Amino acid sequence: MSVFGSVRLGLGDRAYDVVVGRGLLAEAERHIAPLLARPRVAVVTDSNVERLHLETLTQALARGGIAATAIVLPAGEETKSFAHLEKLLDKLLDARIERTDTILALGGGVVGDITGFAAATLRRGTPVVQVPTTLLAQVDAAIGGKTGIDTRHGKNLIGAFHQPRLVLSDVATLDTLPRRELLAGYAEVVKYGLLGDGRFFEWLEQNGRLVITGDVAARSYAVLTSARMKAEIVQSDERESGARALLNLGHTFAHALETELGYDGRLLHGEAVASGLVLAFELSQRLGLVGAADTARVRRHLAQIGLPAGLPAAAPAKGWDPRVLLDHMRQDKKVKGGTLTFILVKAIGKAFVSREIGESDVLGVLDAELAA
Ligand code: GLY
Repeated sequence: MSVFGSVRLGLGDRAYDVVVGRGLLAEAERHIAPLLARPRVAVVTDSNVERLHLETLTQALARGGIAATAIVLPAGEETKSFAHLEKLLDKLLDARIERTDTILALGGGVVGDITGFAAATLRRGTPVVQVPTTLLAQVDAAIGGKTGIDTRHGKNLIGAFHQPRLVLSDVATLDTLPRRELLAGYAEVVKYGLLGDGRFFEWLEQNGRLVITGDVAARSYAVLTSARMKAEIVQSDERESGARALLNLGHTFAHALETELGYDGRLLHGEAVASGLVLAFELSQRLGLVGAADTARVRRHLAQIGLPAGLPAAAPAKGWDPRVLLDHMRQDKKVKGGTLTFILVKAIGKAFVSREIGESDVLGVLDAELAA
């Protein structure tokens, strides 16, 4: 198998495909050549992905007669900074990447975000192709055009919407992903089932283990189904004025947990999302919106897969403090006019946006979780 399936993001003259399959890096020239104005690209990657996948990609490009300049960034979240953006833009200009040339982002969310942002600004906008190599990037970050960097004020506060010309998701790259990162990415897959497709969640309950252990058909199906759901949402609300916010199910809690632990590797984003999914169900249950049986199913599935099914085990030295977490939520990007925004659920697969959540309910959920 090479191509398993593809999804079209219908964004008018910026429409593009997300292609999912196994062995796509080794045949990348076939997918990328038709998009190029001239047979020349820059490939931006990081030092980990360079070692694992860069040669496969550049060899395929060379077979197609496409010249590639590789730019290798240090691996890690710290790379999403002004300093590295400046260096990256300089290198792209040194390589004489022109406005109609294409930049390939080969890597996880960090590489995709900073490369996408560099492409958005280079010569006022240069085409980018996302080639995601982590589960998180394949099901979420690489699709939908959000790009950016972090600053001392917070994550992703500087950025641009810049849709790629193509997303090429090769599930073979997931074989080399550390198990912890794979699990963290899986939390975002679960999120799609919970927010909009109860049947997909049921499928995950039955087949989630196969996705983790490496079954190619199960992995490809999970990535393609997630991509399809993300595509539908982005198509309906590209700039997040409505439905796109549903993708933040679990994220208000998750960001507070991550902020408190300081992004030092003790808690990966996806692990925080798993906790956040449970807490979003608990909050919905507390408000009488969803039944306890649904919340219990979510906990059970996450625990079976090996993800946090409540507050994360990694905790600050003094333990989790609900009031401190609430304070982080008040700083969240999604706060509007001082009101907290949460994505709540009426059932598994039925999420909606709520801007009327009282802080006492949020504290109640966190206090109950700590007491459990
Ligand atoms: N990762 C959330 C979004 O793309 O909107």
